[in-house]
Amino acid sequence: MDTHQSTILKSFLIGAGLFFVALAIYNCKNPEIASDYLIIEPIAIHENGKAFAGSTSCIPCHTDIYNSHIGTAHFKTSALADSSKIKGNFEFGKNTFTLNDRVLFTMMATDSGFYQRANFIHNELELFNLQVDIVVGSGTKGQSYLSWEEDALFQLQTSYFTPTDRWTSSPGLKELISPRPVIARCFECHSTYAKNTTPDKKGNHFDKSQIIYGIDCERCHGASAKHVGYHIKNPDAKVSKYVIKHSALSKQQKLDACALCHSGDRKPIQPPFSFTIGDDLSKFSTSETKENNISLDVHGNQYGLLTASKCFTKSKNMDCTSCHNPHKNQRNQTSTFIQKCIQCHSKGKTVCMATKDVQRMKDNNCISCHMPLISSKSMKIQLDTMETAVKVRTHLISIYPEDTSKQP
Ligand code: HEC
Ligand code: HEC
Ligand code: HEC
Ligand code: HEC
Ligand code: HEC
Ligand code: HEC
Ligand code: HEC
Repeated sequence: MDTHQSTILKSFLIGAGLFFVALAIYNCKNPEIASDYLIIEPIAIHENGKAFAGSTSCIPCHTDIYNSHIGTAHFKTSALADSSKIKGNFEFGKNTFTLNDRVLFTMMATDSGFYQRANFIHNELELFNLQVDIVVGSGTKGQSYLSWEEDALFQLQTSYFTPTDRWTSSPGLKELISPRPVIARCFECHSTYAKNTTPDKKGNHFDKSQIIYGIDCERCHGASAKHVGYHIKNPDAKVSKYVIKHSALSKQQKLDACALCHSGDRKPIQPPFSFTIGDDLSKFSTSETKENNISLDVHGNQYGLLTASKCFTKSKNMDCTSCHNPHKNQRNQTSTFIQKCIQCHSKGKTVCMATKDVQRMKDNNCISCHMPLISSKSMKIQLDTMETAVKVRTHLISIYPEDTSKQP
């Protein structure tokens, strides 16, 4: 090797050395570039750039939570339509609904899918026959159905009301309408993610490949592909990385994580899906709720009602997880809930004032007396010609008269 070549080699080696030193310093300052995680094939990518891994990727490390979460109403609250997801009755004789004696709806299950057909009764003229593509609602109270027209999404006129096993007109639809456009707000409360492709984000156009149905892990913990990739690459790491930690949140942040969808209609400030857990919800949307307003509607506003209750205002640390385990289906687990009441109400002046005999009459069920089912003022459905209100468990924990139908 001549001196010229060796000088070139030396300067190359020095240069390369400097480059690696610089890279090391850079990596220390920017740990994410150090790539301490595997790249996971995402199932969708949020507008903020974060990648979703999907809940099946959580199974190997969070098996119990996964197995219990798939039984929740959250997980089941939206899905692609198939016979296992549609709760509505398609049996002959139970598959029709008549609107204002004028229009007959017939629900049909065929080899090519499920359809809602509408025709005038007097001349049998067909108005439309639309495919059921998406199911919204776990079916506890009922389900609504959505239909695609290219990439535009619409809500179908007939919904299913579980308590009576009947088809009804969708809430708010007393007259025949052409299918109602579905905007991103609907998905914001009923799915994990849906990418709206309308330029102002206010329309009903979506990227079908970028919708994650159901309220899944990553709705509450944030898009977690990096977390998954990190823990696969570092199987011995005991401390979690790249995931939202609920344990580190303040009381208001914890409440906001649920209030996003459980504080009734909110006025948006930012586009749907911009809020992530840990953010200050009041910067993204404002609640119509006024504090201590006991005439709040029971539908969907557990946050407004709970925060107006004495249990909440007079305790230091109460949030939704004081009574609810977000990973479990706790419907009708009355004894679990009563335990929660007793934890705070077994001593001193916070003990129930009703006589023991009165309490025993209701099996000591605190819930049925202090959180009764009350008819919703906004969630009403049309059963043939009759309007019926849906009953919802109030979160205004209080003392009620025996007959709750007289409630404001
Ligand atoms: C390869 C293993 C692995 C996979 C896959 C994985 N995690 Fe984790 N995760 C961990 C470990 C380890 C921890 C820390 C110990 C713990 O809290 O269980 C953790 C903790 C968490 C925490 C608690 C954070 C805290 O400290 O409060 C959440 C939330 C979480 N993971 C969500 C998810 C979600 C959602 C998925 C799937 C999208 C997922 N994880 C997939 C290994 C994994
Ligand atoms: C993305 C919106 C969203 C968030 C965030 C959310 N929920 Fe829900 N929640 C819903 C919807 C929608 C339903 C109704 C699901 C159905 O039956 O289809 C629901 C239902 C419930 C139910 C009734 C379950 C049942 O068995 O019927 C409980 C309890 C509940 N949520 C508690 C919580 C708590 C606690 C939090 C916060 C940790 C939370 N939710 C966060 C949207 C949300
Ligand atoms: C602000 C959040 C929010 C928005 C927006 C929203 N929902 Fe809901 N929805 C809820 C919550 C919360 C529940 C649970 C019942 C309750 O608390 O009254 C629910 C319940 C339902 C149910 C009954 C589920 C069951 O089985 O009990 C259906 C069906 C439903 N919503 C359909 C829709 C459709 C369709 C849209 C959009 C066109 C929509 N919702 C928009 C929050 C929302
Ligand atoms: C409705 C919102 C919600 C959904 C959906 C959800 N979580 Fe959670 N998760 C929470 C909250 C709230 C906490 C904090 C619980 C507490 O402090 O009691 C939590 C805690 C955790 C923790 C740490 C504490 C623990 O219980 O081990 C892990 C791990 C976790 N979640 C994983 C998951 C996985 C995996 C999924 C999906 C299979 C999931 N979560 C779905 C809200 C949710
Ligand atoms: C975190 C503690 C806590 C939990 C859990 C709790 N409460 Fe309370 N509750 C309180 C406090 C504190 C008060 C106010 C007592 C006072 O005024 O001295 C209260 C007040 C009440 C009142 C009187 C309300 C009024 O308007 O006068 C009733 C009734 C009540 N609670 C029932 C319940 C029931 C039923 C449950 C379970 C579903 C429950 N509480 C869960 C702490 C709690
Ligand atoms: C003091 C205990 C307590 C607290 C705190 C609490 N809940 Fe509940 N919640 C209950 C009980 C009890 C039920 C009835 C369960 C049943 O019907 O099986 C319930 C039911 C629900 C339902 C289903 C309502 C229906 O009629 O379908 C939703 C949704 C819900 N809670 C959301 C929330 C949210 C969101 C928060 C926080 C803002 C919250 N809860 C805080 C005790 C509580
Ligand atoms: C049969 C209905 C019924 C049942 C069951 C019941 N309560 Fe009550 N509770 C009442 C009535 C009525 C009052 C008001 C009594 C009065 O002021 O004379 C009351 C009052 C209270 C108060 C307010 C005490 C105060 O200082 O004013 C609390 C707290 C309470 N109940 C908690 C509970 C808890 C916790 C349970 C379940 C272990 C429960 N209650 C079961 C009907 C009931």
